[in-house]
Amino acid sequence: MKTGPSSASGKTANILIVGGSGQVGTALARHKWPVQCTVHTPSRHTLCVTNEAAIDRIFKEGEWDCVVNCAAYTEVEAAESGDPEVALVNTTGPGLLATATAKNGTPFIHLSTDYVFDGTASEPYRSCDPVRPLNTYGVSKAAGEDLVRRANPRHVILRTSWVVSPFRKNFIKTVLNLAQHRDHLQVVDDQTSRLTSAIDLAAALQVICMRLIEDPHCPVGTYHFANAGPATWHEVAVATMQGAARRNARAVPVEATSTRSRQTRARRPPYSVLCTAGLSRDFGIAPRPWQPALEEILDVLLPPGPKDTLPLPGNGRRAPLT
Ligand SMILES: NC(=O)c1ccc[n+]([C@@H]2O[C@H](COP(=O)([O-])OP(=O)(O)OC[C@H]3O[C@@H](n4cnc5c(N)ncnc54)[C@H](OP(=O)(O)O)[C@@H]3O)[C@@H](O)[C@H]2O)c1
Repeated sequence: MKTGPSSASGKTANILIVGGSGQVGTALARHKWPVQCTVHTPSRHTLCVTNEAAIDRIFKEGEWDCVVNCAAYTEVEAAESGDPEVALVNTTGPGLLATATAKNGTPFIHLSTDYVFDGTASEPYRSCDPVRPLNTYGVSKAAGEDLVRRANPRHVILRTSWVVSPFRKNFIKTVLNLAQHRDHLQVVDDQTSRLTSAIDLAAALQVICMRLIEDPHCPVGTYHFANAGPATWHEVAVATMQGAARRNARAVPVEATSTRSRQTRARRPPYSVLCTAGLSRDFGIAPRPWQPALEEILDVLLPPGPKDTLPLPGNGRRAPLT
């Protein structure tokens, strides 16, 4: 196994972030890393997770002290179309990366989802609870987790839920965007989970990454990270509109509606609150409540100044309101 750097030894550490252009990947790449760390974020064009030759090449070209896989097919609705990319990106890809990292003695961090659970629980899901995904995305992510566990014993699978950020496409940006064009919004109030700021998730990923590099006895396995406190999508949308109003941006009323009325193709768990106690116990990570995390994101999306046009960057695509 490669010996990792430590601040004491002064050795450098090469961190490979796969999927570095996504919400979580962007937050992780932008996170302040210790000076001895160099973070690499090859594009999908350079490192497609379904391309074994490209993965081999990246390990021939560089020595990696930790690999973090933020790449995924995350379009939950589109995943129901039968597109083979879903399984390739969410199952085959993580398996290939886990195999390559194991061969090179490199610890591997892989992100997964609350959608591996079916939502029938009445208390927060622990990482050891049995999975039973309800939709194609969840099935592909659960299968990806299995391949990672089998291929590389030095893995951390970090499940998260309802990720939002100033980057890319996500629920908060969709709510702010729709509020520009509508006089009210309708949002479901019968799905409950934990909102996750990609910025806070990135901080947690960095802690895990550094521990894996510096400590050969670092705990491994499956963990959960999400901001503290359960919420429904309706509650998150209301808080977003309240935050917009406080920043003198346009805010509209948010009506509660039911999942059934949305007629989505993908079934979603009505309850997917993740228990994060394992991460606190083994890594000392205590997620803050979701409300201040949301405020921090709104500060970026709605900076002070004229609000004629909202600064909602990204690719212009809108995520459907869940
Ligand atoms: N978003 C959520 O609400 C949520 C909830 C629970 C769990 N998660 C998990 O968190 C992780 C990160 O999600 P995210 O929200 O950051 O996703 P995201 O914003 O959709 O980003 C996905 C990333 O994967 C890359 N990618 C897609 N196919 C690829 C391929 N074949 N090879 C290499 N890269 C590829 C994308 O590259 P391009 O920029 O080229 O498209 C992008 O960088 C995923 O594992 C996801 O399952 C997300």
